[in-house]
Amino acid sequence: MPTGPVLVVGSAGKTGRAVCAALLARGAQVRAAVRPGREASAPAGTEPVGVDLADGHGLRPALDGCSAAYHLAPNVHPDEVGMAQRVAAAARGVGLPHLVFHSVLHPDDARMPHHLHKLAAEEVLREAHPGTLVVLRPSAYHENLLPQVLDGAVALPYSADTPFTTVALADVAEAAATVLLDPARDGEVHDLVGPEVLTTREMVAQAERVLGRPVGLTVSSPAAWAAGPGADLPTAAREALTAMFAAYDEDGLVGDPADLTALLGRRPTSWSDTLRAAAR
Ligand SMILES: NC(=O)c1ccc[n+]([C@@H]2O[C@H](COP(=O)([O-])OP(=O)(O)OC[C@H]3O[C@@H](n4cnc5c(N)ncnc54)[C@H](OP(=O)(O)O)[C@@H]3O)[C@@H](O)[C@H]2O)c1
Repeated sequence: MPTGPVLVVGSAGKTGRAVCAALLARGAQVRAAVRPGREASAPAGTEPVGVDLADGHGLRPALDGCSAAYHLAPNVHPDEVGMAQRVAAAARGVGLPHLVFHSVLHPDDARMPHHLHKLAAEEVLREAHPGTLVVLRPSAYHENLLPQVLDGAVALPYSADTPFTTVALADVAEAAATVLLDPARDGEVHDLVGPEVLTTREMVAQAERVLGRPVGLTVSSPAAWAAGPGADLPTAAREALTAMFAAYDEDGLVGDPADLTALLGRRPTSWSDTLRAAAR
C-alpha cells in the first residue's frame, strides 16, 4: 500500500462515493474533495477538503502529500477540459506521483460531444503527466436504470431494443481502487464493461423475473425528451444528453469486458446479481 492519502474528486457524487468506499474497504487513507462549504457531504471515514473545479480553488493543498488522485468531472459538464487542465496543473505543481482519470467507454464517439470532451481531457492529463496517468473508461452503470426498475416504471428516451454492456458501479469502484493503489499500473488504459450484452427491454424482463413483479416500460425519443423532461436543464447539458440518447437510439453502447475481468480477477457482476442485491 503506497504511503500518503488518495484524493477522490467529486467524492460526494454517485461515482465518487463508490470509489471512496472501495478505497476505505482496502484500508486506504482517503481525502475527499467536495465543493467548498459542503465538507459535511463527504463520505464517512474520509478527510474532507474543499475544492472548486470551476476555478481550481483548493486543488493544490488537496493534492499536496497524496500518493495518488482520482479525477472525475461532473456529469456532461461543458468545462470538462478546463477542469482537467486545472487538475493537471495542480498535480504537476505538487509532483503528484500517480493520477487516475475517470473517462467513458468509446470517448472518440463523435456523435456525443461529452465523449469528445472526455477524450480531450484524457489528452490534457496525459500531456501533463506522461507515464503517470491511468485512464478508466466505464460503460453506462447498472445504477442508471436501477432506480426506475425498483420503482416499477421505466421511461426510456431511446429505443428499448439497442444493445448495452452496462456495468455495476461497485465493480468500477473496485477497479479504480486497484489502479489507484498500484503505481506499477502507470500508463494503462482500461475499458470497464459489464459481462453481458442486453437490450433495455431484456434488462426490464430480467428485472420482472428477479423482483417478481411487473415493471412498466414506456419508450419516447430523444427529441420528445428534450422538449419534455429535459426542457428545464441548462442548454449545454440538454444538448449533450439529447445527443447521447440519439446515439443510444441508433446502436446502444457496447464494449468488451476483458479488461474489467482481468482487473477484478473474476467475472464482472451481472445485471441480475445487481438486481438481487438491490432487492435484498
Ligand atoms: N453514470 C454513468 O453511467 C457513467 C458512465 C461512465 C462515465 N460517467 C462519468 O462519471 C462522472 C461522474 O458522474 P456521477 O454520476 O458520479 O456524477 P455526480 O453524481 O453528479 O457527481 C459529480 C460530483 O462533482 C461535484 N462537483 C460539481 N461541480 C463541482 C465543482 N465546480 N467543483 C468540485 N466538485 C464539483 C458534485 O458536487 P455536489 O455533490 O456538491 O453536487 C458531485 O459530488 C461523469 O463525468 C460522467 O460522465 C458516468
